[in-house]
Amino acid sequence: FNTIDDFDVNGKTVLMRIDINSPVDPNSGIILDDTRMKIHAETIKELSLKGAKTVLLAHQSRPGKNDFTTFKQHAEVLSKAVGMDVKYVDSIFSSTAKEAILALEPGQILLLENVRFYSEEQLKRSPEEEATSVLVKSLSPLIDYFINDAFAAAHRSQTSLVGFTTVVPSAAGRVMEKELTVIGNALENVQHPCVFALGGMKADDSIMVTENVLENGTADYVLVSGLVANIFIWAAGYDIKSTNENFIEARGYLDMVDKCRDLIKRFPGKIIYPQDVAVSVLGDRADVTIENIPDASIFDIGRQSLIEYSKIIREAKTIFANGPAGVFEDPKFAIGTEDIINAIASSEGFSIIGGGHIAAACVNLGYGDKMDHISSGGGASINMLAGKPLAAVQALEASAELFNNKE
Ligand code: 3PG
Repeated sequence: FNTIDDFDVNGKTVLMRIDINSPVDPNSGIILDDTRMKIHAETIKELSLKGAKTVLLAHQSRPGKNDFTTFKQHAEVLSKAVGMDVKYVDSIFSSTAKEAILALEPGQILLLENVRFYSEEQLKRSPEEEATSVLVKSLSPLIDYFINDAFAAAHRSQTSLVGFTTVVPSAAGRVMEKELTVIGNALENVQHPCVFALGGMKADDSIMVTENVLENGTADYVLVSGLVANIFIWAAGYDIKSTNENFIEARGYLDMVDKCRDLIKRFPGKIIYPQDVAVSVLGDRADVTIENIPDASIFDIGRQSLIEYSKIIREAKTIFANGPAGVFEDPKFAIGTEDIINAIASSEGFSIIGGGHIAAACVNLGYGDKMDHISSGGGASINMLAGKPLAAVQALEASAELFNNKE
């Protein structure tokens, strides 16, 4: 694929997809963490200093979730992170948005509205189909180049990520370039034992990864925590009680239980799930074995399991960790996430941490420098590590072939 070095962006209008999907407090609406804004600052500054008219496109959360917001505040936080004025227009391709793009001077930066306000965005179609979307048809006449710096969303085949690549010359931004190089090199040099520690709430991604890395031999062990652990405990035949079952069902993961049962059978001894968990009883932490789970929310993995998890991690030569082990925002249930991070930091193995939440926890604990690489992308890095092609990267490669041959 092309990089920014392949284009002369001076005076040109560049549409850049970034990923500033950030934790937002559902009550106050305040952005809680600006890590992703800071990560993209470098590429944005570079384009501006090279005289590009930079138009930024990004998403925040998903429709229906309580952190699905406009980008008004994101523009302010991004301006601070970049150290330059980032203008904002509260629409994506309305006449107001188009006028704002046409009014840009070289060096100026404009952030368009949350692209997931637009209903075609999440249809999951091919680049050719996405090229016929209203978004691409509306914006492409106004732009000279498309740059994708949104590594964290590169596993999604969505309009703003793959739709422009067949229509205008496209390139990877600096964040995308770096992530692909570092993770690509790590994958080529996997030392064993290799451990995947998978937590967080996106259980479908974690289960897919578990299957792939055990099947292709990348991982020797998969340590599960977070919501995915609850699904495995249920699949293994333990009674996790209706509160936890209902939660899994509400997240749409009921059909994952059979899948997990099948994985436990196919890879005996390879998938390590907690033997004890921490539940919330009237807001307090209670550690219980998986044979004795009360009808209360499981918020963390248990202390006994952490001893075993930490031992496996310390002895590993390669560790890929993704997603927090529990509800770490509450200090009582942060023990699992913290212990796993501690174990990774004290292990001599090569480590890659992915996912906004665990990365933030890592930095907050002062272990940022102890990890070999902290990836800006959770799902994207884990898909890549599972050996799955990333849709947005494939689109960039196809675009380079298409446009470079034309010249
Ligand atoms: C992420 O935070 O993993 C990316 O921004 C992708 O978000 P999504 O899982 O809602 O597509």
